[in-house]
Amino acid sequence: MYGAAAQRLLLLGSAMLAIVDAIAIPDPTAAPAPVEVRAPIITPAAVQFDGKYSYLNKRNYMEKRNLISDIASGADNVLHSLGSILGTDLPSYVISGIPNYFQDFPTGDAVKSSLGINDDDLKATPTQVLNIPPYANWTDQGWNVRFHGNVYKLPNISQSKIDDLANKFLFGTSIDKLPAEQQENARNLTRSIFVVQQANQNVSFRLAPAPLQGADGEPGGGNSVTPPSGYENVTFPFETTVEGDYDAFVQIKNFTNGTLLKGNETNNVQRINVYTDGTDTGNATAFLVPSTGITFISDIDDILRVTKIYDPKEGLLNSFARDFTPWMNMPDIYANWSRTLPNDTHFHYLTTTPEQATRNYMDFIYKTYPGGSFDTRPLNFSDVSATLAIRDFLLRKIFATFPTRKFVLIADTSNSDVMKDYPQLAHDFPNQVQCIFLRNTSSTDPSDKFPYDTSGFEGLNNKSYMFFHVPDDLMGLDIASGQCLNQSIMQNVTFGIQDEVLGIHGAGVRLGASTLGSLIIAVLVAGFVAL
Ligand SMILES: *[C@@H]1O[C@H](CO)[C@@H](O)[C@H](O)[C@H]1NC(C)=O
Ligand SMILES: *[C@@H]1O[C@H](CO)[C@@H](O)[C@H](O)[C@H]1NC(C)=O
Ligand SMILES: *[C@@H]1O[C@H](CO)[C@@H](O)[C@H](O)[C@H]1NC(C)=O
Ligand SMILES: *[C@@H]1O[C@H](CO)[C@@H](O)[C@H](O)[C@H]1NC(C)=O
Ligand SMILES: *[C@@H]1O[C@H](CO)[C@@H](O)[C@H](O)[C@H]1NC(C)=O
Ligand SMILES: *[C@@H]1O[C@H](CO)[C@@H](O)[C@H](O)[C@H]1NC(C)=O
Ligand SMILES: *[C@@H]1O[C@H](CO)[C@@H](O)[C@H](O)[C@H]1NC(C)=O
Ligand SMILES: *[C@@H]1O[C@H](CO)[C@@H](O)[C@H](O)[C@H]1NC(C)=O
Ligand SMILES: *[C@@H]1O[C@H](CO)[C@@H](O)[C@H](O)[C@H]1NC(C)=O
Ligand SMILES: *[C@@H]1O[C@H](CO)[C@@H](O)[C@H](O)[C@H]1NC(C)=O
Ligand SMILES: *[C@@H]1O[C@H](CO)[C@@H](O)[C@H](O)[C@H]1NC(C)=O
Ligand SMILES: *[C@@H]1O[C@H](CO)[C@@H](O)[C@H](O)[C@H]1NC(C)=O
Repeated sequence: MYGAAAQRLLLLGSAMLAIVDAIAIPDPTAAPAPVEVRAPIITPAAVQFDGKYSYLNKRNYMEKRNLISDIASGADNVLHSLGSILGTDLPSYVISGIPNYFQDFPTGDAVKSSLGINDDDLKATPTQVLNIPPYANWTDQGWNVRFHGNVYKLPNISQSKIDDLANKFLFGTSIDKLPAEQQENARNLTRSIFVVQQANQNVSFRLAPAPLQGADGEPGGGNSVTPPSGYENVTFPFETTVEGDYDAFVQIKNFTNGTLLKGNETNNVQRINVYTDGTDTGNATAFLVPSTGITFISDIDDILRVTKIYDPKEGLLNSFARDFTPWMNMPDIYANWSRTLPNDTHFHYLTTTPEQATRNYMDFIYKTYPGGSFDTRPLNFSDVSATLAIRDFLLRKIFATFPTRKFVLIADTSNSDVMKDYPQLAHDFPNQVQCIFLRNTSSTDPSDKFPYDTSGFEGLNNKSYMFFHVPDDLMGLDIASGQCLNQSIMQNVTFGIQDEVLGIHGAGVRLGASTLGSLIIAVLVAGFVAL
């Protein structure tokens, strides 16, 4: 028989143990390959999701780490491991917001060898191009467009083989147990992963006015306008990288027989279509963005759609099998912003999800949210250590491209790279970061057991950011005038580790280091006893 307090501790204990498990079990692919030699390296471990190495496997943890001696060696030691929560000891998906089943997808030769296909098999297969919706800035030489994407071939893999491959991603279930439409989704994503990237390819594009940009229910949503007429041919100046990627800024000319407006002579974002020559798979809409105005940079997982990255089994089904679902009424909030904010407002979707999954993310966003440009994780950022730097790299690139625009940064608290990079940008570019909005995932979703770190926010104007619970908390803000805080949402931000499970919500519960240490020990002991 336990008292209520003891039961609560037990509950906390198993929750905490789940966290510690997650931290302590080394990722089977813990030694990442250097970026340069990435392509030929086969990384079966992450693809063959082996439950025996899973952080869900408590027994395995008990064998690997002597929990009792950890506890016996005292608070400092346990506190130290809590400190390492915020370091690279964490599974990288917690740090970057990418679940580990979304890490280390095979590329190029690894795909070929794992499927037993050779170049001759692929010769007759058409080349496809993933063309990621670009943004462009206005310069003295004209519009400067960042074309980026990937050139690849889709091997002809039988459905039974695809099902085998998909089953390796599906932890705790298999494709034959899923409803039909989820089977289709899982096969689609698996096919998108097992593509063979094409190195040393030239790409060229045809540009033309874009009548639509795909934002659901919003004619001209996202504030952009269509240039009246004309077209242009553009040759990308470099061949694709060994991973099949291309990514560079290219100066474009005025449209032949038409008018592109100059960036300093319009307040509107202009949208143009980019058609890749030689394939109909490489269509994208480019956004020509004037030099001043507000750009919304938005993460996608757990802020625009329900992913539950922090709850691996759910996260996996939400990414591989289920249709993408918007998070609550977030689409209404964005629709209102796109209708009511000034014409120079631009939306940019920046997620560190692997490039291979980009089409699914674009498809969802363009059906649900205002049209805008896109960034996903390029293939040369595939190894674990580079994964930690990719968000910062992509964010700094767009800041450098629009030095006189303001930015509104949106994500949730479950990605520790967001928690580091967003406030750091506000420190580094105080005149450019207008607002930071972070959904406090753990306050509304008890299955998010992971702590998050708010120390980066120390020293920032506390009216320039808001931790919020539900989309309605964002209603009624006058963002253009710099109002970022809904006064009715209690903030309680202390600058350190926050964790709802441990009852640390902020200022109200400021725990000293040793108190925190003993709380964790109590929790660990309780969890251990409960096993
Ligand atoms: C806009 O920029 C172009 C190129 O830098 C320049 O020639 C033109 O005078 C500018 N127009 C205005 C209204 O500033
Ligand atoms: C793919 O392979 C199957 C069986 O090997 C064959 O029947 C089919 O025609 C191929 N499809 C294409 C598009 O080559
Ligand atoms: C998967 O679905 C997306 C979005 O509907 C689509 O664009 C893509 O072509 C599909 N991929 C494959 C490999 O079938
Ligand atoms: C790509 O284009 C460049 C410049 O036109 C040319 O030198 C090169 O041979 C082309 N590469 C391929 C693979 O066609
Ligand atoms: C642009 O490319 C298209 C084919 O994509 C071609 O028909 C057209 O002649 C080209 N125009 C110019 C001006 O080069
Ligand atoms: C451009 O306009 C001229 C005159 O209006 C026309 O003769 C010519 O065919 C047009 N060129 C293209 C490529 O549309
Ligand atoms: C393109 O040409 C038109 C007509 O001459 C001009 O009004 C417009 O400013 C030009 N746009 C750019 C981007 O140079
Ligand atoms: C890409 O655009 C071309 C030209 O409008 C169109 O024929 C083709 O169907 C488009 N491709 C896709 C996948 O929508
Ligand atoms: C915004 O753009 C529309 C055209 O799409 C234009 O009619 C309207 O006047 C613009 N508003 C302002 C304030 O410039
Ligand atoms: C446009 O973007 C490029 C690439 O990020 C940057 O180097 C350049 O300074 C930007 N130009 C202006 C005028 O902001
Ligand atoms: C819609 O956005 C505007 C600011 O662009 C804001 O003033 C208004 O309160 C918002 N409406 C809702 C219902 O959020
Ligand atoms: C602030 O603390 C209160 C009481 O502990 C809690 O209910 C609330 O969810 C916290 N607010 C945020 C934004 O986390």
